[in-house]
Amino acid sequence: MINIAIDGPSAAGKGVVSERLAKLLNIYHLDTGAIYRAIGLYMYENNIDASSEEEVSKVLDDINIEIEFINREQYTYLNGECVNGKIRTSIISDYSSRSSALLCVRDKVKHLQQDFAKKNNVIMEGRDITTEILPNAKYKFFLTASPETRALRRLKDLEAKGEKITFAQVLKDINERDYRDSHREFGKLQLAKDAVYINTDNYTIDEVVAIIYSKIDER
Ligand code: DC
Repeated sequence: MINIAIDGPSAAGKGVVSERLAKLLNIYHLDTGAIYRAIGLYMYENNIDASSEEEVSKVLDDINIEIEFINREQYTYLNGECVNGKIRTSIISDYSSRSSALLCVRDKVKHLQQDFAKKNNVIMEGRDITTEILPNAKYKFFLTASPETRALRRLKDLEAKGEKITFAQVLKDINERDYRDSHREFGKLQLAKDAVYINTDNYTIDEVVAIIYSKIDER
């Protein structure tokens, strides 16, 4: 089995880089953020305080997450509904960042991720893949970029989806989320000591893909 683990902050380019690598290597790309986003969406749609362990833990058993791949594209289902089109908004970024800090939420999705990696060749990307989910993965990378670069990338994505938001607001959201994702008690974003650190500020997507690809021997 090939397991490639990639972590990094939001909008560092993990998604697009992983997608291209998965295609080159003919393996799956599992975007674990989509799972946390689907859970955040449930909290949003059901008016639940996403930061409250007490409130969130009460409803976790009512949440069923499934992942399906069609032509290597990931479809994430929340209680039977495909939520791909609903989870990429800034409000869901906020809900998912808050609920993903809770241990009960992380425990719920840990096995789904580990089972997938046991059964499939996969590039898995998220926040704690190199440290907690697949600590023994043969290949580990940490992808990052400055908050400004990432905010600009995220702004373009949101604008393309028709969201009206300013650069300053996106930058503020990114900084807040970075802080929350890397200061929480469980599954926080951190650089694994054996991960290859790549700052993507001055690289194109193709260059980052080439750097990672060159380090994978099973091709
Ligand atoms: O990668 P993303 O921006 O789609 O992730 C959305 C949120 O989910 C993010 O704020 C942190 C959380 N997340 C996490 O805690 N662990 C992961 N493995 C992936 C995402």
